[in-house]
Amino acid sequence: MKILVTGGCGFIGSNFIRYFLKSYPDYSMINVDKLTYAGNIENLSDLSHSPLYYFIRGDIADAPRIEELISKGVEAIVNFAAESHVDRSIEDPSAFIKTNVFGTFVLLEAVRKVFQKQPIRFLHVSTDEVYGSLGETGAFTEETPLAPNSPYAASKTAADMLVRAYHHTYGIPALITRCSNNYGPYQFPEKLIPLMVSNAIEDKELPIYGDGMHVRDWIYVEDHCRALDVVLHRGKEGEIYNIGGQSEKPNLTVAKTILDRLGKAHSLIRFVTDRPGHDRRYAIDFSKIERELGWKPSVSFEEGISLTVEWYQAHREWWKKIKTGEYLDYYNRMYKDR
Ligand code: NAD
Ligand code: DAU
Repeated sequence: MKILVTGGCGFIGSNFIRYFLKSYPDYSMINVDKLTYAGNIENLSDLSHSPLYYFIRGDIADAPRIEELISKGVEAIVNFAAESHVDRSIEDPSAFIKTNVFGTFVLLEAVRKVFQKQPIRFLHVSTDEVYGSLGETGAFTEETPLAPNSPYAASKTAADMLVRAYHHTYGIPALITRCSNNYGPYQFPEKLIPLMVSNAIEDKELPIYGDGMHVRDWIYVEDHCRALDVVLHRGKEGEIYNIGGQSEKPNLTVAKTILDRLGKAHSLIRFVTDRPGHDRRYAIDFSKIERELGWKPSVSFEEGISLTVEWYQAHREWWKKIKTGEYLDYYNRMYKDR
């Protein structure tokens, strides 16, 4: 199978490409990535000599380029490309609209032009944030009404709606997945877990928003990749599949667990001003994908966080290189005087 992956130099995309090439030695993967601040070609440097992996620097919003790539016998598209960080979307939403909404539209148009002549599937990688925030109980199902709260979540919801409409109106073979918070190797250190781990290693403060009792459901990235595998191969076109890690944790617990793993004092935690519009709690009901496709998460939070802490300890050069230049400007804007 020839798969076009978008955003493959980011966190989940790079884990997905590595997982797929290992699991399916006869598949080939084309990775089109714009290499924004979050894209890192080094995430896949171990594959640079593979004859089955091709990297192309490109923008999913570049219609002629995308159409040309798809016309070369691509049988599936897995769309990871996105601006993915909620705090950056609050600071400036424009890139989120361009990539997440317009970029997805360009991909859909390209699929619309070929799907009747060429066998193709479009797997759109979405998020649980489209459902908004939960109270103290309950979990998001695929039927939960959409209520995005941040510009990031709104842009992902808009993209989901376009995918839905293109399937409904034109019949394009599209599927949507909505996953909870991923963590693991190669995650950009602006996100909670890699930020906490890398700061703790360097004895820097761990900034916790508000009271630290906001709850996320954490999934180890390889479990997400396995879920995308079953949806891509066996999911029903036009359907949405929720993916969750069965690991709900308040942020404060996550921070303390990381400090304990590293043998550092809890006094490194600093409570800072809350994120505007901060969603209180996410939880995922993944019974549909479990029932219909036989998937469930396999890595516990305890296991996954140990693997992740070990990876960041062993890959200091990777994150230290990132934590310079643009990252430092961002970090100071975001956390100084907060
Ligand atoms: P990331 O920010 O680590 O990576 C995004 C990648 O997309 C980067 O390599 C970037 O260079 C690339 N990119 C951005 N704009 C592009 C464009 N216009 N054209 C081509 N490439 C472009 O993101 P991630 O955390 O790996 O998330 C991947 C996808 O999964 C996103 O769609 C995100 O919404 C979704 N998702 C993420 C999580 C999570 O917890 N991280 C959970 C659920 C869903
Ligand atoms: O739920 C899936 C989503 O998870 C994905 O769609 C997004 O792409 C991904 O970025 C993530 O969004 P969150 O906003 O939940 O992730 P983030 O790592 O930014 O924050 C996780 C929680 O930790 C959230 O409640 C905010 C809090 N937080 C975050 C940072 C960066 C802090 O308390 N301090 C911090 O410094």
